[in-house]
Amino acid sequence: MNVVNIEDLRRLARKRLPKAIFEFVDGGALDEVTLRANRSDFERVRFHPRVFTDVSQISLATTILGQPAQVPLIMAPVGLCGMVRRKAEVIAARTAASAGMPFCLSMMAASSIEEVCAGAASQPQRATPSGAPWFQLYLLKDRAMNRVLLQRARAAGAKVLVLTVDTKTQGPRERDIRNGFTVPPRITMRSAFDAVRCWRWVRDVALGPTVTFANLKDLNSGGKDVVTITQFIADKYDLGYDWEALEWCKSEWQGPVAVKGILSPVDAKLAVQHGASGIIVSNHGGRQLDGAISSIAALPAIVDAVGSDAEVILDGGVRRGVDIVKALCLGARACMAGRPFVYALAALGEEGMQRAIAIFKAEIEKAVMLVGCNSVQALQRGYLQGLDRLRC
Ligand SMILES: Cc1cc2nc3c(=O)[nH]c(=O)nc-3n(C[C@H](O)[C@H](O)[C@H](O)COP(=O)(O)O)c2cc1C
Repeated sequence: MNVVNIEDLRRLARKRLPKAIFEFVDGGALDEVTLRANRSDFERVRFHPRVFTDVSQISLATTILGQPAQVPLIMAPVGLCGMVRRKAEVIAARTAASAGMPFCLSMMAASSIEEVCAGAASQPQRATPSGAPWFQLYLLKDRAMNRVLLQRARAAGAKVLVLTVDTKTQGPRERDIRNGFTVPPRITMRSAFDAVRCWRWVRDVALGPTVTFANLKDLNSGGKDVVTITQFIADKYDLGYDWEALEWCKSEWQGPVAVKGILSPVDAKLAVQHGASGIIVSNHGGRQLDGAISSIAALPAIVDAVGSDAEVILDGGVRRGVDIVKALCLGARACMAGRPFVYALAALGEEGMQRAIAIFKAEIEKAVMLVGCNSVQALQRGYLQGLDRLRC
C-alpha cells in the first residue's frame, strides 16, 4: 500500500490489528460527537494567504517549554501503546528523538520510563539536550506512588511533566464494551478469526511478554495483575484533588509542568496561577466527555486568557500539517497528536513512525510556505479567517 498521508497509515493499522485493539485506539466516548468535532471544527477556519512574501527559507524549528524542537509537534501520551506493537513506546521515543520531535510517555505505558529514556538518549540527534521524553502523570490516591514515578522520570532524564486532569473516571467507550476489550489482550473463540488475519500482530504482541502497565508493576499497586484500565482507575485514581495538587506536582518536579485536559479559559488561568508553565488544550481525543467542545474551538479563548504567562499546546484531531498551522496561527506554541503515531506504529513500526513524522513535516512546510510565511514562529491570526465560526 502506498502511504501518502496519515489516513493511509490508519487504514493499514486497521488491516494489521485485531478489531478490538484497533477500535480501542480509534474510538471515542459514547456517540463520538467530540471525536468527530475535533476533526470537523478544523474546517471551520480557513486560511487567508499572503503573497509577495519571501518563502525561500522555511523554518519549522521552535522551542516548547524550554526544550528545542525541530517541528512544532509532540507525540501525545498513549497508555498501553505496546498493545499495537511490542515495545512501541521505545520505538516511538527513539524515532521521535532522532527527528528532533518531543515524545511524551504515558504513566500507563507498556514500556518502563527507564527503557524508553535510555532508547531515546541513544539517538545522535535529539529532541531535547538530554534526548529525554516528557513524562505524563495521573494523580493517584497514594501520593507516595506518584512521588516514586516522578523521581524515576527525573532520574531517567525527563525534563517536562504533563499532568493529565480530564480522567477522574474513564470515558464510556461502547466500542470496547461490544468488543469485550481486555488488558492484556486475550485470544478467545470470538477473536480466533481475527488472530489468523492478524498473524503478524499475534507473533509480535500476543505471543510476546504479557502487555501490562510497566511503570506500575514494581509499585505496591497490583499493576501486574491489572485486568482492566477501568478497574485500575476506579481503585487508584484520586478523585478528590484540587488546585493544590498542581502546586504539589510543581514542587516535586521542579521543572516545567504542563496541564493536559483544559478546555475552559477560567481553568487555564487558574492552572497558570497554581504553577503551570504549559496548558494542553485537550478533550483526550474525544475519549472522555462526549459532547465536550472540540480542542480547536476551545483554543482561541484559552490563548487570550493566558497571554504570555504560559505556552499553549493544542491536542486532538490533528491529522494534517494544515491543522497544525491553523492551531499555530491561533496562538498555540505546538500541537500534540496521539492516534496518528499509534496507527503508524501498528502499521509499519519504526518505518511507520518515520513516515508519519516526515508526512507531518512536509505538510507543515508546504502550508507555511503557501500561507505566505517563512517560519512557524511567525504565524499569526491574520493568516486566518472564520474565527467567529469556531464559537459554539
Ligand atoms: C489509545 C489511547 C490511549 C491514550 N492514553 C492516554 C494516557 O495514558 N494519558 C493521557 O494523558 N492521554 C492519553 N490518551 C489521549 C492522548 O494523549 C491525546 O490526548 C489524544 O490521542 C489526542 O487526540 P488524537 O488522537 O486525535 O491526536 C490516549 C489516547 C489514545 C488514542
